[in-house]
Amino acid sequence: MSRFISFEGIDGAGKTSHLDALESQLRQAGHDVVRTREPGGTPLAEKLRESVLHDAMDALTESLLVFAARRDHLVQVIEPALARGAWVLSDRFTDATFAYQGAGRGFDLSVLSTLEKWVQGQRQPDLTFLFDLPPEVAAARLSAARQPDRFEAQDTAFFERVRAGYQARLRADAQRFALIDASANQAEVARQVDAALQSRGWL
Ligand code: TYD
Repeated sequence: MSRFISFEGIDGAGKTSHLDALESQLRQAGHDVVRTREPGGTPLAEKLRESVLHDAMDALTESLLVFAARRDHLVQVIEPALARGAWVLSDRFTDATFAYQGAGRGFDLSVLSTLEKWVQGQRQPDLTFLFDLPPEVAAARLSAARQPDRFEAQDTAFFERVRAGYQARLRADAQRFALIDASANQAEVARQVDAALQSRGWL
């Protein structure tokens, strides 16, 4: 049976290494796994990602571009994969738009809700891991050598708002989420991810 799982959290939360681990665990168990990301996941959506991460624009333009990328991603990749019974693991999905463009940038949440319905209809992840941790801890993890994009360059106050935005999405749809304490060490975080899957009978 297909599963759609998204991984969310502020920049530096460490979700990518746990995505890698879950992807190989599921492949070893013989599942058809589609590993993808947002913005991105198709040639067109990856072009839009480049713009969103690097070109100056206002919050409405940013929101329209991430939803345009999402539409292409859903139509070209996610829906066909789910239809054939695959597990789709996505590094971010729509909760990121509510957290970054909505809570972070202060963009109108009701407009985002309208775009969400237009772009994805009833489609939501079956499970969303929210990697939650204080922004100061996350910032210390981001490599100092790395050239920050338009989001990574934001200050702690921005990431406090993004974190609160994610928590609000969790409260509004709690059964979809698994809240992960991402300030714990890597082994403990991996244990929490496993526990969430096991409690659903998915592992
Ligand atoms: P990220 O997922 O952190 O990838 P990497 O680890 O390669 O940097 O980068 C994506 C950035 O895009 C992240 O800062 C959050 C932002 N973003 C939005 O602002 N809105 C969205 O809807 C999505 C999906 C991402």
